[in-house]
Amino acid sequence: MKQTERANFGSKLGIILATAGSAVGLGNVWRFPYMTGQNGGAAFILIYFACVLILAIPCMISEFIIGRRGQANAVRSFEKIGGRGWKIIGVMGVITGFLICSFYSVVSGWCLEYIYASVAGQLEGNPDYVRTYYNAFVSSPWKPLLCLVVFLLMTHLIIVRGVERGIEKASKLMMPVLFVLLIGIVAASCMLPGASNGISYMFKPDWQSVSSGVFLSALGQAFFSLSLGMGCLVTYASYFNRQTDLTKASIQIALIDSLIAILAGLMIFPAAFAVGVSPDSGPSLVFITLPNVFREAFAAVPAVSYVVAIMFYALLTLAALTSLISLHEVCTSYLHEELHISRHRGAIIVTAICLVLGVLCSLSLGAYPEIQLFGMSLFDLFDYVTSQYLMPIGGFLTCLLLGWFVPKPISRDEFTNGGTLRGQFFTIYFFLVRYVCPIAILFIFLHQFGVL
Ligand code: PFF
Repeated sequence: MKQTERANFGSKLGIILATAGSAVGLGNVWRFPYMTGQNGGAAFILIYFACVLILAIPCMISEFIIGRRGQANAVRSFEKIGGRGWKIIGVMGVITGFLICSFYSVVSGWCLEYIYASVAGQLEGNPDYVRTYYNAFVSSPWKPLLCLVVFLLMTHLIIVRGVERGIEKASKLMMPVLFVLLIGIVAASCMLPGASNGISYMFKPDWQSVSSGVFLSALGQAFFSLSLGMGCLVTYASYFNRQTDLTKASIQIALIDSLIAILAGLMIFPAAFAVGVSPDSGPSLVFITLPNVFREAFAAVPAVSYVVAIMFYALLTLAALTSLISLHEVCTSYLHEELHISRHRGAIIVTAICLVLGVLCSLSLGAYPEIQLFGMSLFDLFDYVTSQYLMPIGGFLTCLLLGWFVPKPISRDEFTNGGTLRGQFFTIYFFLVRYVCPIAILFIFLHQFGVL
């Protein structure tokens, strides 16, 4: 009875697009290029893809198994499948959700400002001007906060419309638009004179530049980008129907996510090299360098540069929105189901908490740099702790749970949809989850701390 009452995504396409909508976001378009730039280019990309293939896909299937079996929010699903103690993974996930939501909505808000600035033609000027614009905006005491509030309210409104009408509808519309926009900008970027240097930066690895931190950064990026290790996909899978092929869905989502990340790289690096912008300029890569890139790249036809800039920031906003919706949903569904309050009220509490934390994150970057913990701004700390620690640890524990504690027939039953699918990859999946994933993640941590 309970299962039929629970909300479901309405269609197969809806499931893929909503889940891919969660995966594809600032992580692909904003974070992936700057992490690649800071970690040496092609070698990082290769390690990243190895992490996606060997570690992230099995973790994703595991989260799908737990969520669809559990038919509940992340905390309850972990408890149902593993017993009381394993609830902790879900609790960690909800905490991670709040932390990511907070800094994620800050950057999402910047996208709104940059759409406005592009429309108003305020980003046109020499590189120094664009840098000054960014710094002045980020350190303004109220402007980023206003954008943050608007963005969180947009997210809130979609969330309260519920799973099928809100999340699924929004994703169905936004994902194809996003893809088409991206292809257009990549084509423009790759046609610039000198673009080939950016392309070889992305595809020719320099193994000399691989330091010990690169592995954990790549692992963290894979988990962040695929929304793994924090109960997000557990929550979404609880809305999947019984016919969904979990393996196929996870491979499709990993492919879409990887494709978008590569396209984002192909959009940024060729253009950055063409106009002489350093690829390792960090989180500001998108916001400081791209306006210059657009202007210089299309100098001959300013109207094109104007339209491309608006398109780009609109694209980033759409991508951020579908991801923030999924982060918000992890926390909302938890409060709604566990505190027995209405979905509406749960969503209000989540939005309010994220607003407070988001304001602190935003101020820590600009107007009040003294908002620091452990020598990092709150913004950097939340980003670092979630992607480098909480998410990989969540993934590690999830694999331990499915590999060693949940009876194998239960996993097989979900994997094969109750025996209706052949499930020829189950043995490989189970081997990866039982041995390869936990050992590899542990190894990467030990390597990071210099133990190995
Ligand atoms: N995967 C999203 C991105 O790449 O932008 C970020 C994210 C969304 C992380 C949802 C975690 C999550 F639960």
